[in-house]
Amino acid sequence: MSSSLTIGESTPLANQVAGHDGVMSDASGSLVIKPALPREIAFYQTLNSSSREDPIRKLKPFVPKFYGTLRLEGQLSSEGDIKGLPGKEEIPESVVIQNLSYAFTHPNIIDVKLGKVLYGPDASEEKKYRMDKQARDTTTHETGIRLTGFTTWHEPTQSYIVTPKSFGKTISVSQLPEGMKRFFPLPNDVVPSLVSASPTKSQSELEIIPEKTGVSLESGIPPTPITASNAPSSESASSENKPQEYTNHTIRPDCMIKVLDLILEEIDKLFSVLSELEIRFVGASLLIVYEGDSSKLPKSLEKLEKKKALNLLKANKINEQRSAFSDDGSIYSSSNDSDFEDDFENEEGDDEILNEDEEENKIKLECSPIKLKLIDFAHTWLTPEEGPDQGVLLGLQTLKSLIEGRKDQIESAQKHS
Ligand SMILES: Nc1ncnc2c1ncn2[C@@H]1O[C@H](COP(=O)(O)OP(=O)(O)OP(=O)(O)O)[C@@H](O)[C@H]1O
Ligand SMILES: [Mg+2]
Repeated sequence: MSSSLTIGESTPLANQVAGHDGVMSDASGSLVIKPALPREIAFYQTLNSSSREDPIRKLKPFVPKFYGTLRLEGQLSSEGDIKGLPGKEEIPESVVIQNLSYAFTHPNIIDVKLGKVLYGPDASEEKKYRMDKQARDTTTHETGIRLTGFTTWHEPTQSYIVTPKSFGKTISVSQLPEGMKRFFPLPNDVVPSLVSASPTKSQSELEIIPEKTGVSLESGIPPTPITASNAPSSESASSENKPQEYTNHTIRPDCMIKVLDLILEEIDKLFSVLSELEIRFVGASLLIVYEGDSSKLPKSLEKLEKKKALNLLKANKINEQRSAFSDDGSIYSSSNDSDFEDDFENEEGDDEILNEDEEENKIKLECSPIKLKLIDFAHTWLTPEEGPDQGVLLGLQTLKSLIEGRKDQIESAQKHS
């Protein structure tokens, strides 16, 4: 891509649901700037420079777009000169990638850590022991997933219900469906708040407060419901004025089912790509985002359905034309199973060069109802001749069953309503 990128002033990433502090966003909010280890940078670069024939290229639609790296070179003085910065070599380089929650009105975001093993071959014995214990003490070892953290938009209180990392770290396998209910709630579901006003929590436990939206997020404590009461219908729920439980969720069940179907479709596609790749992901996550705004979601779903139908029509027309020319009368089979996101945006992004404003408008207007991508490649490496990552595949299967289970619950609730 030949266009240049303007970063502007960076701010902490709004809606960060897990991971370390230090994840930033650019002035427009469309980019994520994340300090990265050399291995993660190498992974993005390898993927970006892969040829169309390269097997790893198939992963590209499942990874945020990569725009390059950023390194702090100096400090701008008031006179406008760039002054060298002592110790700048110590400051890690950052990757500049697509912000997956950008363009959603109210992004519902979940970070699901994949895999059964949370340490790489180069880890110290102490780290191996610690990470193995963490895997066995959580859902990781048995199921290949841990719900690292998530946020769900709650329209009546104009705030996000935050499910902090302590939830995923303390639940048992049998409680995983409870996590699905928190992330995909039905209108009458009661979702207990997990917020604590504890003054002892560390800064890294606190969730980011996105200034732009004025939405405050909660912090982490074990997932014990406080007491049951009705959520207040205040404009904005500040941390002192948090409801103890949330109900009256506004996403319609029929829309939720469509969202779940789209997610299942993407999980299937990712599963088949990963089944063919010899690669290991340690500590990588699946980041899933869906539109939490109840009036935007149906429009976005409808638009996607129309675009899919249109693409199918176009593909059929091309096939008809091709078969008319074929010698044996056989129908030329071109791939119709386009990535639904490709229906909204050109994933490869190198055909069309738009100016910044046009690009922003286009993305905002055409935002897909869901996004599902892998993130966090600090411990990702190629393993030729060693087969696919079975732990990650197991995790995808677990997640698929959980989402199917949630879909069944919603369908039977609909039947009985
Ligand atoms: N491309 C992205 N778009 C939107 N949000 C992102 C993106 N990348 C990261 N995030 C947010 O930042 C969080 C942390 O990201 P990531 O896991 O890559 O960083 P990390 O600090 O290395 O995490 P870990 O502690 O798991 O090693 C994610 O849970 C997500 O909320
Ligand atoms: Mg992570």
